[in-house]
Amino acid sequence: MSQPAWANGVDPTKVSAARMYDAALDGSHNFEVDRAAVAAIAAVTPYYVPTIQENRNVLQRMVRYLRSQGVTQFLDIGAGLPTRGQVHEIADNAKVVYVDNDPEVIAHAEALMAGTDRVRIVEGDAREPDDILAHRDVSEFLDRTSPIALLLIGVLHFIPDDEVYKPVDRFKAALGPGNLIAITHGTTDGFDPAWNAAVEHRYESARNRPHMRSYEAIEPFFAGCDMIPPGLVNVMHWRPDSDVGAHPPEHIGLYGGIGRIQPGRR
Ligand SMILES: C[S@@+](CC[C@H](N)C(=O)[O-])C[C@H]1O[C@@H](n2cnc3c(N)ncnc32)[C@H](O)[C@@H]1O
Repeated sequence: MSQPAWANGVDPTKVSAARMYDAALDGSHNFEVDRAAVAAIAAVTPYYVPTIQENRNVLQRMVRYLRSQGVTQFLDIGAGLPTRGQVHEIADNAKVVYVDNDPEVIAHAEALMAGTDRVRIVEGDAREPDDILAHRDVSEFLDRTSPIALLLIGVLHFIPDDEVYKPVDRFKAALGPGNLIAITHGTTDGFDPAWNAAVEHRYESARNRPHMRSYEAIEPFFAGCDMIPPGLVNVMHWRPDSDVGAHPPEHIGLYGGIGRIQPGRR
């Protein structure tokens, strides 16, 4: 079978974090190698796929919440392959800039969203905040006199410790007081360490590999922020729509929260 246009030039023998995520969500933008990796992880760690589903669910709750608070500008870093329920679909009439460091994600997003005038697509790395903020599709598109929500959803756990904290601090300082930062982050808290090893092993050929963190290591991303209730919590406790049919929190290895950058960050 010929490759779809979005996969031109992509090595189909190597997994990608974005494609594995899409495969876990039952999307159509993945290869056999990604589906096999997801199946292999799911066979060892039964909570991997539910955690990815709940990441997507809490992303949508967070965006709806922010939109209900009048936020009309979203900078979504580590946007991933557009599957169902992308940020610009949920955030009615809002401006959205999607950023990812995977050229395959960018090519796919550009093809899918060509002509959507309230959306911009930027190739950029979360570790380089100044480059992202200076990009004309960010600096000329987003209005710095109105609140901006920075979304770091399911992305910081792909960046090693020595490269992750400074960029997040830089984003907060550059965005300044009153702007918002939403984060979800994978954790192994409460889980069998062997499961984490099984997950990491399956990402070995990916450009972005996972670095799960404890609650204590995730909290500092919100330093200098006032937390929107309920704070940084297991995502099953982050403003759930309903408890009916929800996964038990102890099965979901993901924390999430939204903070408002405090005065004095500049
Ligand atoms: C698990 S997906 C999350 C997608 C989306 N944010 C969501 O939560 O539904 C992670 C995405 O982050 C991207 N990514 C990983 N490391 C990155 C980095 N350093 N800078 C920008 N994007 C990155 C990957 O390419 C992938 O598309």
